[in-house]
Amino acid sequence: MKVLAISGGSKNGSNDAMAREALMGAKEAGAEIEFIRLHDLNLKPCTGCIACVNNLMQGGNGDCVLKDDFKWLENKVLDADGIIFVMPIFEKGSPGIMHVLQDRLCGPSHDIGINFVAQKIAEKEGKPGPDPRKFKKKAVSFISIGGSDWNTRVSADMNLVAMTASWKVIDDIVFAWAKSIVLDDEKVATCHRVGVNIAKAAADIDNARYLGDPGVCPLCHSRNFFLNSDGMAVCEVCGMTGELSKVDGKFVFTVEPGQYDLAHTLLPGKLKHMDDIYHYETRLAEQKKTPEYKERIKKYVAFISASKPEQKEDIQ
Ligand SMILES: Cc1cc2nc3c(=O)[nH]c(=O)nc-3n(C[C@H](O)[C@H](O)[C@H](O)COP(=O)(O)O)c2cc1C
Repeated sequence: MKVLAISGGSKNGSNDAMAREALMGAKEAGAEIEFIRLHDLNLKPCTGCIACVNNLMQGGNGDCVLKDDFKWLENKVLDADGIIFVMPIFEKGSPGIMHVLQDRLCGPSHDIGINFVAQKIAEKEGKPGPDPRKFKKKAVSFISIGGSDWNTRVSADMNLVAMTASWKVIDDIVFAWAKSIVLDDEKVATCHRVGVNIAKAAADIDNARYLGDPGVCPLCHSRNFFLNSDGMAVCEVCGMTGELSKVDGKFVFTVEPGQYDLAHTLLPGKLKHMDDIYHYETRLAEQKKTPEYKERIKKYVAFISASKPEQKEDIQ
């Protein structure tokens, strides 16, 4: 059973230290462990070309066309039974490097709904199709470390990492005022426990349970909601719509009927999303062939070109 810790912090800083502390716990609980620092890797941002999804829809494996260290990292992630993401809090949320990884690892090419459909296409056409490890059940935990109490977005950011592949979240810890976390024995012990917990969860994934703050959303435990103008609230992680009320001084989220079938973290909601995307992507592919579409794009390209430093190559 393999447990991976991925740190997005500065070299040998608080995040690296707490990732290693969690791995000490995971090792004690019997896991084979590995530590990765995102800043050691060459990871390019996703350009949104969707070559990966197009490839999946044609029976391919959906590999990214960018050439960098992503494939190496993806293999580590796909092999792991448990992953602990340890990230510094930047601007109240997860850092840019985490978003770069997220777009590559947790975008449509790794969505289990899309891969489910892709596998069926591949079987029908006798093609290789998606890597079977994309369907592997996995436990993940999140540790977010901030220098202040500006942290209201980070849990939602981190939990979205688990959404695409429907990974099972075990712990979700946010540390405020944690610049000196290495010297704070209580917080260090919490990180150690996160490691023990994930090793135990990964060893028995079918019975693994969420161990964190119960939160407000009954499905994904999020405390982050988008408040619509019609009085309804939308959970920022699983996307379920409902009403927020206060009962005995605590917020309660009562979801509208049918919302569990639309939840972004569960397979039925993913398959619906897949249908929607498929409809709009195929419509766009047809529209792109028309003279009107080509004319409109030509007008924008002719209007102004993008400024860039002289030595910069065109980004795809
Ligand atoms: C660009 C930037 C933005 C930051 N924004 C926040 C913030 O919004 N909230 C917070 O609690 N800490 C914030 N911090 C503090 C970092 O979370 C803290 O320095 C980090 O956890 C240290 O990790 P390291 O020692 O592993 O590099 C920010 C730091 C930087 C560099």
